[in-house]
Amino acid sequence: MSSLAIINCSQLVTLAGPQRPRVGEELRELSIIENGAMLLREGRIEKVGKRETIEPLLTADCEVVDAANRIVLPGFVDAHTHPVFAGNRANEFELRASGATYEQIALAGGGIRSTVRNTRAASEDELVVSGKRYAEWFLRCGTTTVEAKSGYGLTVEDELKMLRAIRRLNDETPLSYVPTFLGAHVVPEEFKGNSSGYVDLIVEEMLPRVATENLAEFCDVFCEVGAFTVEESRRILIAAKQLGLKLRVHADQLSLGGGSALAAELGATTADHLEQADQSAIRNLQSAMVQPVLLPCSVLMIGSQKYANARAMIEAGLAVIIATDFNPGSSPVVSMLLALTLASTQMKMTPAEAISAATVNAAYSLGRGNEIGSLEPGKRADVVIHDCGDYRELAYFAGLEHPHAVFVNGKNAFSR
Ligand code: NIG
Ligand code: FE
Repeated sequence: MSSLAIINCSQLVTLAGPQRPRVGEELRELSIIENGAMLLREGRIEKVGKRETIEPLLTADCEVVDAANRIVLPGFVDAHTHPVFAGNRANEFELRASGATYEQIALAGGGIRSTVRNTRAASEDELVVSGKRYAEWFLRCGTTTVEAKSGYGLTVEDELKMLRAIRRLNDETPLSYVPTFLGAHVVPEEFKGNSSGYVDLIVEEMLPRVATENLAEFCDVFCEVGAFTVEESRRILIAAKQLGLKLRVHADQLSLGGGSALAAELGATTADHLEQADQSAIRNLQSAMVQPVLLPCSVLMIGSQKYANARAMIEAGLAVIIATDFNPGSSPVVSMLLALTLASTQMKMTPAEAISAATVNAAYSLGRGNEIGSLEPGKRADVVIHDCGDYRELAYFAGLEHPHAVFVNGKNAFSR
């Protein structure tokens, strides 16, 4: 049963290559098959090739999708999102338009803490309902897997509630979620002036529950002035590692504060944001081959001008990733296409480099490099037909939702 052929692809952008994250010149190699076709069976990719080599293999029971000279890519893998929250912060967007900064709003009790108040008041069911709406947005922008963080609960029960909502979204929508525990997002109001008490709660109660209930694969910490110090972050991340969680770190976003060095010291999988990272921070990442996750949509949306130094990171041989940082505050953006546009215009990554960063490299950072991120036989059939004739048009015709059809596990999850 269930075999599907996609034929007549102007470019089949396979990203086939070494079975590891791509660095340096490799980022520019997309392994494109012109006039390509592919065969999917039982939710897996069976074969990719030139049209002439695939078409003779089509059997009578095979459903055929004519891409009509459009391009075909793997689904985007968004390696940094906060997609479960209640309410939104359009009010703060307006305040920023009137001159307030992201940091000022947070200091005045808004920002992350405002979403925490709303999320605590919401039930798991309510979080799943709003989460499903965002899942649809991701899919129609061509994203098929997201990394998903908790971090708006900040009590034992509210963090578990968020992670359970993420698990349900993974089960009940076509989008795949990779869960990350971010109990260390900010120090909640009730622990004001007692951050060490809150770190105790994370280490002694939250992390053990998260691990026992198998609710997260990664642990993340917001290492920043006004959030968690390097020492506090270290304590949390070491405890997480001992429980078998892998590590991601929000590092050097608003200030340069040792987050990159900490990520390297602990062998974190990724260090994320890095807008303020300098050459020495980059050398630290390089020393432990930490993957940088660059989040240009949050720079755009908080109205900053300072993007991460992607070129220096690529020159240092790092396996860069581009992600959206979707969240209600700094980045109400689900579109990896917008992230690609900003990667090219603001960070001077070529369209090919940005696509590698948004697919195969992201997949490896989530421990799923053998499953997703490229169109190669044996991998999951997460495939997107975009309404463009050339892959460079994805980011160039900016602000459009290009996907014409999205397949997850070989099944149609969205079509225009
Ligand atoms: O990645 N930096 C910390 N956390 C988020 C922002 C979350 C929020 O503003 O609600 C980020 O930018
Ligand atoms: Fe984030």
